[in-house]
Amino acid sequence: MRPQLVDGHGRDIGDVRISVTDRCNFRCQYCMPAEGLPWLDRKDILTYEEIARVAGLLASMGVHDVRLTGGEPLARRELWKLVEMLSADGNIHDLSLTTNGYLLERQVEQLVRAGLRRVNVSLDALAPDRFFQLTRRNSLQQVLSSLAAAEKYPELRPIKVNVVALKDFTEDEVVAFAEFARKHPYEVRFIEFMPLDGDRNWSRDRVLPNAEVRRLIHAAYPLKDLGRERHGTSRRWEFADGQGSIGFISPVSEPFCGDCNRIRITAEGELRTCLFSMTETDLREPLRNGASDAELEALIRAAVWEKELKHHVNDEGFVQPLRTMSQIGG
Ligand code: 5AD
Ligand code: SF4
Repeated sequence: MRPQLVDGHGRDIGDVRISVTDRCNFRCQYCMPAEGLPWLDRKDILTYEEIARVAGLLASMGVHDVRLTGGEPLARRELWKLVEMLSADGNIHDLSLTTNGYLLERQVEQLVRAGLRRVNVSLDALAPDRFFQLTRRNSLQQVLSSLAAAEKYPELRPIKVNVVALKDFTEDEVVAFAEFARKHPYEVRFIEFMPLDGDRNWSRDRVLPNAEVRRLIHAAYPLKDLGRERHGTSRRWEFADGQGSIGFISPVSEPFCGDCNRIRITAEGELRTCLFSMTETDLREPLRNGASDAELEALIRAAVWEKELKHHVNDEGFVQPLRTMSQIGG
């Protein structure tokens, strides 16, 4: 083991989000333009061996939690092979996947066999026409089937469902989502819309604050505060009758930067210390030019030391980063 990876503000870094591809088969309004984005060349994205090397090095510095994201991670061929490589690393304690769910049903068995233990599935609408409006794909049934398929594997727990809340859209289904959370063994979490969309249409008045979502749910099904877990992004509330719970991730209205312990690696190997970073550190070039573990470690430590204290979404003069969510990795 190496010494713990720390930033200059005294935070221990324990979590890395690794994007395995910038491509996606959905076109969610809050993420990608309808026509997609210029995709990276295959040769420019890290190979599974390169990812496993970086993840292993990070894990030896105390970054025990690894989440695979994209784009849509299951759009990358044979992702289970990477899962198998990472789950064999004893320093990686928590290995999870964030997916839009479209390809999950057919891959879930292989993924579980390879050692995957947790999934987060995005689901922003519960009616087919609304799902289409939001994702520009007619795939609600497929995503629900994937959730049902994941549920059959007790190894995969908890199953989390991410709902990005948009003003003048999500309100209509907030109570339906509460009922969905009460009926299924899924942890449903509402996420506030962040300025990371491809269309650059984000504005403060398109954010549906989680306090409003909670108010709407509470009126139908009273809630009790369970608080926020350390380093957890979500604050959980339990239904007062004990039938399930619901989570709220509020990066805009209640930033949780203070105990953020996360870093990110993009599909092409750029290390990012914040979703809203304006700078990044290339790991691919040194990886491909024979850098030693000690050299990579020094590069990573120097970059992470400069991790941003907090994001500036709520400050005057905030500048949206060039990359969209799909090009960073949620
Ligand atoms: N704001 C908030 N959440 C977003 N996601 C993608 N784009 C945005 C955005 N602009 C979510 C996805 C997924 C998670 C990784 O991030 O829905 O659940
Ligand atoms: Fe694809 Fe996820 Fe972006 Fe939707 S949010 S377009 S599923 S990468």
